[in-house]
Amino acid sequence: MAPLRRAATAAEVLLALTGLLLLVLSPAGAATAAVEGGELRMKQSDGGYSYNSTLAHVLVEYASAVYTSDLTSLLTWTCPRCEGHTKGFEMIEIIVDIEKCLQAFVGVAPDPQSIIIAFRGTQEHSASNWIEDLFWKQLDVTYPGMPNAMVHHGFYSAYYNTTLRHEILKSVQWAWKIYGRLPINVVGHSMGGALASFCALDLSVKWGSHKVQLITFGQPRVGNPAFAEYFNEQVPRTIRVTHENDIVPHLPPYFYYLGEWTYHHFAREVWLRETIVGNVVTRNATVCDCSGEDPICSRSVYGRSVADHLEYYGVNLHADSRGTCQFVIGASNSAYGDILQVDGTIILSRYLQERYPVESI
Ligand SMILES: *[C@@H]1O[C@H](CO)[C@@H](O)[C@H](O)[C@H]1NC(C)=O
Ligand SMILES: *[C@@H]1O[C@H](CO)[C@@H](O)[C@H](O)[C@H]1NC(C)=O
Ligand SMILES: *[C@@H]1O[C@H](CO)[C@@H](O)[C@H](O)[C@H]1NC(C)=O
Repeated sequence: MAPLRRAATAAEVLLALTGLLLLVLSPAGAATAAVEGGELRMKQSDGGYSYNSTLAHVLVEYASAVYTSDLTSLLTWTCPRCEGHTKGFEMIEIIVDIEKCLQAFVGVAPDPQSIIIAFRGTQEHSASNWIEDLFWKQLDVTYPGMPNAMVHHGFYSAYYNTTLRHEILKSVQWAWKIYGRLPINVVGHSMGGALASFCALDLSVKWGSHKVQLITFGQPRVGNPAFAEYFNEQVPRTIRVTHENDIVPHLPPYFYYLGEWTYHHFAREVWLRETIVGNVVTRNATVCDCSGEDPICSRSVYGRSVADHLEYYGVNLHADSRGTCQFVIGASNSAYGDILQVDGTIILSRYLQERYPVESI
């Protein structure tokens, strides 16, 4: 991993001040919508990769299951959220970074036959505190190897500078030895979507983009336009699902007039809307353009809803117990090779760690 480079500049300060000014001048909550105008088209680079609604319905269940704090039921795939379309899933490893309150897992799914990597979103007591903080996230790190690509240090290091990355790469290699070279689906909701993005980019660069698909639900923006463009090239098989007025995809704000000094989504957004007639819910998924900031998709609404953030495709995407970073481990984990505690990280794994050292990470 190339060392991170801090790049706080005058323009960055300007960005923060502009945000402050707009927040002060605008009526409460309207800041995001008020500044989201204009367009920035990007070259089409997803090679015709298309949205598969059936697949999205399956993968959202993994993004939900990773919120489970009872790690035993998660390991044995018997948790209340481990049902439905995910039947037959085999867990390989669960990683819980207690200090940073992060949780992820790697396993193998029968349908679609693939490796699934799932990241949990924030477990903070108040989702709205976490969302408010998103306004102020700065583009403060240059993405390694991409001189103009800037990202937020917090999201970046939550994947790159924790045990998560190391364990995920190791588990994928182990799974490939046992199950053959299956394709990889990376999923995540909210902040977990931000981590999933960095993971998918990492894996694509490392092992080839044809092996990696990414789907995120209600993720925030993670980088600037140059980063988004780089991302589109490297991870063309990406779907970024947004839902009605979910506030999080509107954050950190996109200021189109700030050039490279603004956050900018990567493609391709799919915007879900619901119409309820009687007691029938009809879901309309709009497949957006490849700009990343399609003005007719979620950007066409104010986007102030937290409730819309916590449910996608009718599936709950939040912790079963809010508050502290809880987890529970029962006594019946004998089927698993290892339970390790390393530097504030709990690792529950099906294979013996020391026998599978990471190859050239
Ligand atoms: C969509 O995904 C489902 C579930 O993985 C799969 O069975 C189906 O073949 C896919 N459809 C297309 C058109 O790729
Ligand atoms: C990585 O994490 C360690 C421990 O949490 C911290 O001390 C260090 O500053 C971090 N490095 C970067 C580049 O974020
Ligand atoms: C779905 O949404 C698009 C874009 O808002 C709209 O043009 C279309 O008419 C909608 N379809 C249905 C069935 O509501």
